[in-house]
Amino acid sequence: MKQFLYLLLAGAIALCACSRGPEGSDPRVEKLLRKMTLEEKVGQTVLFTSDWSVTGPSMREGYIDDIRQGRCGNIFNAYTAEYTRKLQEIAVNETRLGIPLLFGYDVIHGFRTIFPINLGMACTWDPEAIERSARVAAHEAAAAGLHWTYSPMCDICVEPRWGRVSEGAGEDPYLGSAVAAALTRGYQGEDLKDESTLLACIKHYAAYGAPQAGRDYNTVDMSERWLREFYLPPYKAAVDAGALSVMASFNELDGVPATANKHLMQEILRDEWGFRGFVVTDYTGINEMVCHGYAADEKDAGRLAMNAGIDMDMQSASYFNYMVDLVRSGAVKESTLDEAVRRILNVKAALGLFDDPFKYCSPEREASETLTESNKQEARLTAAQSCVLLKNEGVLPLRKGARTAVIGALADSKDDLLGSWRGASEVRSVPASILDAIREVTPAVYAEGCKEMGEDRSGFGAALAAARGAEQIVMVLGEDCQWSGEAASRSDIRIPGVQSELLEKIAALGKPLVVVLLNGRPLDLSAESVTAGALLEAWYPGTMGGYAVADLLFGDVNPSGKLCITFPRNLGQVPIYHYAKNTGRPYVHPEAKYESRYLDVPNEPLYAFGHGLSYTTFSYSDITLSDDRFSADGSIEATVTLTNTGDREGEETVQLYIRDLVGSVTRPVKQLKGFRKVNLGPGESKEVSFSIDKETLSFYRADMSFGPESGEFKVFIGGASDNVKEASFSYEE
Ligand code: BGC
Repeated sequence: MKQFLYLLLAGAIALCACSRGPEGSDPRVEKLLRKMTLEEKVGQTVLFTSDWSVTGPSMREGYIDDIRQGRCGNIFNAYTAEYTRKLQEIAVNETRLGIPLLFGYDVIHGFRTIFPINLGMACTWDPEAIERSARVAAHEAAAAGLHWTYSPMCDICVEPRWGRVSEGAGEDPYLGSAVAAALTRGYQGEDLKDESTLLACIKHYAAYGAPQAGRDYNTVDMSERWLREFYLPPYKAAVDAGALSVMASFNELDGVPATANKHLMQEILRDEWGFRGFVVTDYTGINEMVCHGYAADEKDAGRLAMNAGIDMDMQSASYFNYMVDLVRSGAVKESTLDEAVRRILNVKAALGLFDDPFKYCSPEREASETLTESNKQEARLTAAQSCVLLKNEGVLPLRKGARTAVIGALADSKDDLLGSWRGASEVRSVPASILDAIREVTPAVYAEGCKEMGEDRSGFGAALAAARGAEQIVMVLGEDCQWSGEAASRSDIRIPGVQSELLEKIAALGKPLVVVLLNGRPLDLSAESVTAGALLEAWYPGTMGGYAVADLLFGDVNPSGKLCITFPRNLGQVPIYHYAKNTGRPYVHPEAKYESRYLDVPNEPLYAFGHGLSYTTFSYSDITLSDDRFSADGSIEATVTLTNTGDREGEETVQLYIRDLVGSVTRPVKQLKGFRKVNLGPGESKEVSFSIDKETLSFYRADMSFGPESGEFKVFIGGASDNVKEASFSYEE
C-alpha cells in the first residue's frame, strides 16, 4: 500500500512537472511546431549515420537527400568543421523551415586527444580530472562541428566477460555517480550555448551492464529494488548534473525492451527524476524489438517506441518510414509526436543552434584547439593517474640507465594504447609506444616474444635471449584493444594466447620483472600475480599512454590509481563485488562445510575494489567519531589520521564505507559512501574527516520509500575495501 502511495505521489509531482511542457518551451520552438507539416515533424525525430564510422548496420543511403527534404533532422558520425558546415547549409538554406541539424558522435574518452578508457579513468577516483578530460574532449569535438556526444556511459557492471565493462566506471554506484556527474559537467560546461560545449547523452538506460552470462545484448532481469539501488544511481546523477539527452539501451528489462519501456522512460526518468531533455534509441533499437519478440514488425515497433516516450530513432528508419502513417491512423497521437519534437527542438535551442547554426563548426578552432600541448599534457597526467599498481615486490621503480629488456607485442603497439571508441583519433598522433617511451629513459632491447593471440611460440627464444642479457625486464601483456568495447564479450578472462606461458619462462630467469597490462576488463591474473615481481594495470591509456607508463615505471610519477572494479581469482567467482550481502551463512569458520564458500578457491577476490599500491606507504590511525550516536537532523564526523610512512611524496585515496547492521531489507556488508584524495610528503600526516548524516544512511526501504532506518551501524575507513579501520555508531529517526 505504502509503495502504491509513493508511486501515486511521484506521479502527481510528475504531472506538475510535465504540465510545464509548452510553457517551458522556447517560443521559437512553439512557433515552428505550429508551422510544421506532419512529415517535417517526423523528420526531427530521425537520426541517421553518415557512415564515417560504423557501429552497426546501415539502413539508409542518401541521407543528404533526406536532409534536403526535411526528412532527417539529425546526423551522427559526420564531423570536421568543413563537412558539418556543408550539411548544415543544406538544412538551413535548402529546407522549407531551415531547422538546423544536430550532429552527434561517440566522443567517449576523447575526440582527437585520447584519454584512458573510461574504466581506467574511474580508477583515478578524481572527478575533477575526469571533468577536465571531458572539457578537453568537448573543445576538440565542438570545434569540429559536433554538438552531441554519446557519453557518459553510466552502466554499472560486475561482469568482466562483457566487453563494454571497459566503457563504464566499474562496479560501484557511488563512484559511478561521481564519474557520471563529472563527465556531464565537463561536456556541457556552464552553458550549453557556449561554442565549446557538447550535449551529453546518458547511456545505456537502463542496466545494460547486467547482461546474462556477460554476452553483449543479452537479456537483463533483476528486481526493481536491485535496479534502483545498484544500477540506476549513475544515470540519475547525470540527469541531476543537467544532461539533456538519454539513450535507451538494447536490452530488455523485466521482459520489456528498454526501447519500449514506459516504466523506465516515463515513470522513472521523466515523472520521478524530472528529466526535461529527449530520449534517443540505441543503434537500430526500434527494429530490434521484432527480434526480441516484442513487436510484430518494424512499424509496430515504431508505434511501441513512440508511445513509450522514445523521441528519436537512431538508424532504424522506423519513424522515417512509418510514423506519418501511424499518426494518420491514430495509432500514435499527434500530440505525442509533438511532444517528442518539442523536446528535441528545445535541446537544439538550448545549444544555441537557432541563434547561429554554424557556430560549432570552426576551422580555426579546429586547427588551434586540437591535440594541443596542454591537451596532451592533461592526457598524460590522467593516464598515469589511471594506472593501478596491483603488486610490487621491490621491483618498481625501475632503474634508469640499467639495461632493460622489453617484451611483448603490445609494448610496440601505438594502436592498442588508444583502446576502443577512440573518437576521431589517428594512430599517427600517438607520439610513443610504451617501448619508445622506455627507450627515451634507458637503453632497451626489444623482443616481441609472441602476439597477444594465437599459439605461435617461435619468438620465445629471442625473448629469452633479450631477457638474459638484461638487468631488468618489462613485459607488456594483455588483450588486443578490439577485444574490449561493443560486441567483444569473452567466455575466458585469462590473458589470451601464449603470453602467460612466455611470462613463466622469463620469470624463471629470476631477474627483476614487471608486467604491464593493457586490457579493458578485470582479468584472471591468478598465475601472473605469482610469477611477476610487479604488476601494473595500465588499461588502454590513450594518446600519451606510452609516456605515462614510462613515467610510472621509472618513478617520475608515483602510482595512485585504485581499482574501480574487483579482480576475481577466476571466472567461477564472478559476479564478485564489494557491495555484497552477508548471507545467512557467512563463511567465518576455516573448516566449516555448510557456510557460503568455495571448496577450491578462497571467497576473497584476487584484488579487491579500491586496491592500488604506491611507491610510498600509508598508515591509518583508528577512527575517531565526534559522537557515537545521532538523530534525524544531526550528523557525526568520522576522522582518521593518515600518515605517509614511506620516503617519497604520494597520493592516497581514502575511502569511507558503511554497514547498516539490521534493516527492513538486508544491506551490503560494505557500501562506499565517500572518498577523498590526499597528497602527503614523506613522514607527513593529515586528518581526513567524513560527515555522516541521514542521507549517508538512506536506502530503498521495505516499502520502497527512500530514507534511513534507526539502528546500529558500522563505519569503515581505509585505502581499499578489504583494508579498513572500523568503528560503530547508532542512528535514531
Ligand atoms: C552503441 C552506442 C553508440 C551507438 C552510436 C551503438 O552500437 O551501443 O553506445 O553510442 O552505437 O554509435
